[in-house]
Amino acid sequence: MVNSILVTGGCGFIGTNFIRFLFELEKENFVVINVDKLTYAANPENLLDIQQRFPKRYFFHKVDICDFKEITKILDKYEVDTIVHFAAESHVDRSIIGPSDFVQTNVFGTFSLLEAVREKFEKGKQIRFHHISTDEVYGSLGSRGYFYETSPYKPRSPYSATKAASDHLVRSYFSTYGFPVTISICSNNYGPYQFPEKLIPLMIINMLEGKELPIYGDGKNIRDWLYVYDHCTAIWKVLNKGRIGETYNVGGENEWENIKLVELLCEIIAKKTGKSVESYKDLIKFVKDRPGHDRRYAINCDKIKRDLLWKQSVDFAVGLELTVDWYLKNTDWLNRVRSGEYLKWLKINYQSRK
Ligand code: NAD
Ligand code: DAU
Repeated sequence: MVNSILVTGGCGFIGTNFIRFLFELEKENFVVINVDKLTYAANPENLLDIQQRFPKRYFFHKVDICDFKEITKILDKYEVDTIVHFAAESHVDRSIIGPSDFVQTNVFGTFSLLEAVREKFEKGKQIRFHHISTDEVYGSLGSRGYFYETSPYKPRSPYSATKAASDHLVRSYFSTYGFPVTISICSNNYGPYQFPEKLIPLMIINMLEGKELPIYGDGKNIRDWLYVYDHCTAIWKVLNKGRIGETYNVGGENEWENIKLVELLCEIIAKKTGKSVESYKDLIKFVKDRPGHDRRYAINCDKIKRDLLWKQSVDFAVGLELTVDWYLKNTDWLNRVRSGEYLKWLKINYQSRK
């Protein structure tokens, strides 16, 4: 039973959605501690209403996961029994331009967290460690085949290499020290609160602002999209029913070529704004490809469906519409998250692509 759950990276996209999901669960009264360093991708305002509604159950600490001492203090103070570890540098393009933060947070940060948990474990305290990973650790697929839990790791970007390293560390702590870990490996998420550097929110805001829609390469790279709420339900299943030491793939079974997805978004936004679909499609611009751009991701998630009775609940058309509506309604949020470091980064990134 979960009594005190530490969520790392809870002010980011999936972490925010996960914490909001936790507070929607009825009959649960565990305490949630959100530890986030507040990088450019974070927005603590995402959870202000939760803080106000649940002052005795929700606590936020601005802490770097690499800070062993602070993490240890938090584990003690709240008698943490479960960790869900989201905190990471998460954007592939940024990892290509500057991998250093990725190694620091994704590899060293995960190691440091594991060490804090190991210290407790050696004193007789069991802390369940659930690690959030990505299908990118499996590498790139051709036009056929799927990623299975047994597929070999073949990461190809600095981002995925650091995520792969962290997965290996987590597994090694299970096999070496025997403390209770689980891992979930998920495909591309979409939904509210996603930082607008990622494909779907970037395309939505560029359409709304009449800006170009940059498509890398030939636009035929394929991603498997899952609504973020369904990722949250999968994590919750693994926490409650997953077997210790196991890895569970989670995916949308919903493959889309980037260009087709962007065209679909043009249609959805045209309906909302009353402008023509063509006026949006005309904004599409094929730009220089991402170096080492993985061609296709496709997750086989039969294991979590069969063993834990999880399944996706949000149809893609519905999920995309919910997402577009959320961004249309939350322009203030968008302006705030875009006001800082992101704009500087975007400028540099675009210059380097010309
Ligand atoms: P995100 O970039 O939106 O959020 C990451 C959060 O981690 C931010 O709030 C950031 O401030 C925090 N953080 C970064 N470094 C930190 C540090 N050193 N200490 C404490 N906090 C720190 O990322 P996301 O898209 O929400 O992804 C969350 C996790 O899920 C990541 O581990 C990512 O690899 C994984 N994942 C993401 C997707 C996806 O499609 N977005 C899919 C599969 C797996
Ligand atoms: O697969 C899971 C991964 O999905 C997560 O681990 C990552 O944290 C998350 O960022 C995401 O990685 P991708 O690289 O797949 O996501 P991104 O939104 O950056 O790109 C999706 C696809 O769209 C990819 O093929 C690159 C392409 N793309 C992206 C951007 C930002 C474009 O064509 N144009 C763009 O402007």
